[in-house]
Amino acid sequence: MDTLVSVGITGVGGYAPPGVLTNHDLEQMVETSDEWIRTRSGISNRHIADAATATSDIALPAARQALERAGLAPDALDIVVMATFTPDYLLPATACTIQHALGATRAAAFDLAAACSGFIYAINVIAPSIATGQFRNALVIGADTLSKVTDYTDRSTCVLFGDGAGAAVLQPVPAGRGLLASYLRADGGGCEMLYIPGGMTRKPASHETVDARDHYVKMSGNEVFRFAVRALEEAVLEALSRAGLTAADVDLIVPHQANIRIIDGAAKRLGIPEDRWVINLHEYGNTSGGSIPLALNDAYEQGRLHEGDVVVFVAFGGGLTWGASVLRW
Ligand code: ACO
Repeated sequence: MDTLVSVGITGVGGYAPPGVLTNHDLEQMVETSDEWIRTRSGISNRHIADAATATSDIALPAARQALERAGLAPDALDIVVMATFTPDYLLPATACTIQHALGATRAAAFDLAAACSGFIYAINVIAPSIATGQFRNALVIGADTLSKVTDYTDRSTCVLFGDGAGAAVLQPVPAGRGLLASYLRADGGGCEMLYIPGGMTRKPASHETVDARDHYVKMSGNEVFRFAVRALEEAVLEALSRAGLTAADVDLIVPHQANIRIIDGAAKRLGIPEDRWVINLHEYGNTSGGSIPLALNDAYEQGRLHEGDVVVFVAFGGGLTWGASVLRW
């Protein structure tokens, strides 16, 4: 065990497509109001990809930025992991498209499906391989183009989702820094609380599935809300306890950007002051896999990440999946 090295994030990047869909735009599309959306979710805008843009197209600028900030050439990468549930194609993995576009000629590549928890899952899957020396340089991307699987006639979901990407370079870091501890969970019993029923092996694409709008995200908002508040608190407390820390030690917390009421509720229960939370959902909505790394990138660009800080990532989402990681920056 004493040969394990510490693993940390040495570069971050983020990107969202330029097109913006405002609450006022949505008022013209479904029966809703700017006031309802803001008070129930905290969201004002979301960025939306155009018809020609796929998930790899929004992931690439984020990936390039993370590599540049880490001072790493693409051909030095050993592995590219893409956390997404909206890949360019089901076959092959979007990570391979990104590997090729970057010129990461030596890298392995695969996609990971854990919905909104995907970025946290991915860093935890990859970090041990760096710790043991199997890989040295990894690129972990979280990105989703949710607008492509959102039903813009369903007001209970279309006001929440947007498109976005974030990326992080993972490398060995000095002892005591980087990833300290994590807590990851899943409960497949909640599958139908948040899922896309059609288009795959359970219900292959047919005229009927298209007519039934089964290729879009279906969500039981209330049930997911209740699960989310509990999952967020549990994951943060468990991950902190495994790191030998408490909520009072947290300098910055980057939560999944789903709903401001979920975050406010958790902030109160955990006793972590509001100014320690990174929030950008008012501008991007819920970008699923992109949510945490895009918010992390915002925190970086705002100068909110300082060496030695205790930083927590926490997510919940489809699966159901949830989890948290504690890092010393
Ligand atoms: N505009 C106006 N009214 C609406 C809208 C809307 N956009 N959406 C729903 N309503 C109505 C409902 O129809 C309902 O009306 P009714 O009482 O006449 O039936 C009323 O508002 C209240 O609906 P609720 O669902 O109880 O509203 P709630 O306060 O729970 O907010 C919301 C709904 C925002 C969806 C909330 O439940 C939520 O955020 N849930 C969690 C969602 C989430 O985090 N999902 C992401 C998980 S991550 C992932 O993997 C994508």
